[in-house]
Amino acid sequence: MRNINEDTITQAVLEAMAGCTNDRLRTVMTSLVQHLHSFARDVKLTEDEWRYAIDFLTDVGHITDDKRQEFVLLSDTLGLSMLVTTQNNRKPVECTEATVLGPFFVMGAPEYRNGDDISNGAAGLPCFVTGSVRGLSGEPVAGASLEVWQSDEDGYYDVQYGDPQDANVAYQARGRLRTLPDGRFHFRSILAEAYPIPHDGPVGRMLDALGRHPWRPAHLHFWIKAPGYEPLITHVFRNGDKYLDSDSVFGVRSTLVVDWVQHPPGVAPDGTVMDTAFNTLNYDFVLNPSEHGS
Ligand code: BEZ
Ligand code: FE
Repeated sequence: MRNINEDTITQAVLEAMAGCTNDRLRTVMTSLVQHLHSFARDVKLTEDEWRYAIDFLTDVGHITDDKRQEFVLLSDTLGLSMLVTTQNNRKPVECTEATVLGPFFVMGAPEYRNGDDISNGAAGLPCFVTGSVRGLSGEPVAGASLEVWQSDEDGYYDVQYGDPQDANVAYQARGRLRTLPDGRFHFRSILAEAYPIPHDGPVGRMLDALGRHPWRPAHLHFWIKAPGYEPLITHVFRNGDKYLDSDSVFGVRSTLVVDWVQHPPGVAPDGTVMDTAFNTLNYDFVLNPSEHGS
């Protein structure tokens, strides 16, 4: 393998991988090398630009730790995360669409009963959430596990409060509950607000350079699991939010946008007499049966 030139280098790299016995790895790496080389030829990548890209990726690595995942953020803001989510979650149109998990999900959130307040002291206008989990034929899914997490009135998740190195953050505005025998669920929380994704690092600089903003429209996250159905990771977005058409991670689907209804002080859906204004929202999820029925 000598005298390789700019026309023969792609083939030379592909031949160097020919002995790879892992078929999937060879397929993925062959395509990656072909696309990378095509990209460099297409834009006639300069040496300065190549060095800049290496420095950028180095910065992405340096800011990444077990609390901050800048590589995922890069994937999110380039639309790669939603592309991978979408092409791996094809299902009948009646089913609820999937979206990205995002960096603010944490394991071990407290368990609540229907009707409980999951805000656990997080700040925001009260919001009463109702809904149901059903299968494709409309059958109620009883006992489905629902993980919910959301931002507060300032657009922060509990894991962003205080010192990011402090592992002892209280779980606020997040929790786990189960659907009732009729497939319905209801809980109290706070009104989620729009927020910017973490943008004090290289991804933020990239967005800035591209003339893009870092904002996400207000949403609630749900991760729903039930035996016999595919797990569903999704968001429910707030209709009217000004960022619905420019979500920095490309996660909005119109089927996931619903009205969050404002109410003056009065009686809430669960019978609580509210002396402040409050909101309500309802969303009915439809799960896809899993291939193997479990
Ligand atoms: C989120 O919605 O929590 C999120 C998703 C992707 C990147 C940043 C935040
Ligand atoms: Fe979020």
